[in-house]
Amino acid sequence: MSSSLPEIASGREAEQAIAPGPILLLGAPGVGKGTQAKELVKMWGIPQISTGDLLRFHKDHGTELGRIAKGLMERGELVPDDLVNDMVADRLARPDTLRGYILDGFPRTLNQANWLDERLANETGSIPVVAVSIQVDYNQLLRRITGRRNCPVCGTIYNIYAKPPGVEGTCDVEGAALVQRADDTEAVFAQRMKSYAALTAPVVDHYHTQGRFVEVDGDRPIEAVSDEIVAAVKRLRAS
Ligand code: AP5
Ligand code: MG
Repeated sequence: MSSSLPEIASGREAEQAIAPGPILLLGAPGVGKGTQAKELVKMWGIPQISTGDLLRFHKDHGTELGRIAKGLMERGELVPDDLVNDMVADRLARPDTLRGYILDGFPRTLNQANWLDERLANETGSIPVVAVSIQVDYNQLLRRITGRRNCPVCGTIYNIYAKPPGVEGTCDVEGAALVQRADDTEAVFAQRMKSYAALTAPVVDHYHTQGRFVEVDGDRPIEAVSDEIVAAVKRLRAS
């Protein structure tokens, strides 16, 4: 046992030295984009860029963008492309993105995808994106969304059915009282699914056509899903 520990440590160090490049996590509300992004952060040490989390930050801090986004998010509609693209551009300008990053929930329209493609095409030496589409069926998604709870301090994602905290309603890491997102109701979920089908499903087709694309069954244990994503990203990067 003890002889294998240094190997594990050096394996992790080796992973944190490579440049996985940009990884897109695509999929309907509740497929596990945020959950899987956090697994990839641990694996590769690159940042998770969740447009939903960034918009919630703006909403909570009462910025102008947050005021515009609030009603749209609470109704399950998308925030205008230009505003989201500018917010992503600001985040991508930070130096922690140099080895790569995980885009969670972006791009979500063809307009956003074209903006990202053009931006990457104009960057010298940029690594092409790998797109991962996670699939889970509607009824399972509804159960996940209504059962989700989040830590307001560290962002850990729980589920009262599938991934409950040790003490009900309390974050295992921070001890903070868990919260439920304002859009995690059955009615808003239905509208988010409509937005997804109309505006985001074409983005999945767009990256499928471009290659460096993998579809993953998200209705399995979290670790099985992340193992498959990691293997697929390594395979697509090598090809
Ligand atoms: P956003 O925050 O991105 O919401 P979403 O896309 O609806 O996705 P979710 O965060 O609900 O789900 P997830 O896939 O991250 O799942 P999670 O890992 O949490 O966007 C919110 C809103 O912001 C949008 O509606 C829009 O208004 C706006 N917005 C955001 N991006 C935008 C953009 N680019 N353009 C315009 N507007 C934008 O998991 C869900 C639950 O399932 C959890 O409880 C988790 O514990 C559980 N779970 C996860 N994996 C598993 C598993 N393998 N087995 C069992 N349970 C699991
Ligand atoms: Mg999310």
